[in-house]
Amino acid sequence: MNGNFETLYEQIGGGATIQKLVDAFYPKVFSNEELLPIFNGSMEDIKRKQFMFLSQFLGGPALYSEEFGPPAMRQRHLPFEITPVRAENWLSCMEEAFEEIGLSQTPEGQLFFHRLKQVAAIMVNSNE
Ligand code: HEM
Repeated sequence: MNGNFETLYEQIGGGATIQKLVDAFYPKVFSNEELLPIFNGSMEDIKRKQFMFLSQFLGGPALYSEEFGPPAMRQRHLPFEITPVRAENWLSCMEEAFEEIGLSQTPEGQLFFHRLKQVAAIMVNSNE
């Protein structure tokens, strides 16, 4: 808790909700034809890293930085060609995952999704 204000992490239901989200999200990513060519690692590894990242992104425990240092997400994504079309596909997989776990109807879920959209836009590193 910070003062009397709940973090977004707490509002959405903490680690349990983030786990449900990554479990719903990555199977969609790994079966998306636009995204498949750049997701060559293991689904379990990326789920774990995304769980850790989202935890701290929403104001929960800084799990990602404890293990990997500064998030520097744009820099970490530079090895992968992220076109506007790939960013759109990433976001539509995420939107479906939000719906699947019942997060898209709540105000805090909408704020969370809005923040992901902002980060996704920053991740675009190719116009092809
Ligand atoms: C805009 C579309 C995006 C695409 C196409 C994309 C693609 C990728 C790819 C290909 C990887 C490497 C996966 C692997 O190691 O096999 C990755 C890693 C990762 N992505 Fe994204 N990503 C996108 C947006 C985002 C956003 C918006 C976030 C956070 C909110 C995010 C968080 C992460 C994290 C935490 C990792 C792991 C980084 C690490 O290696 O430590 N990504 N992403």
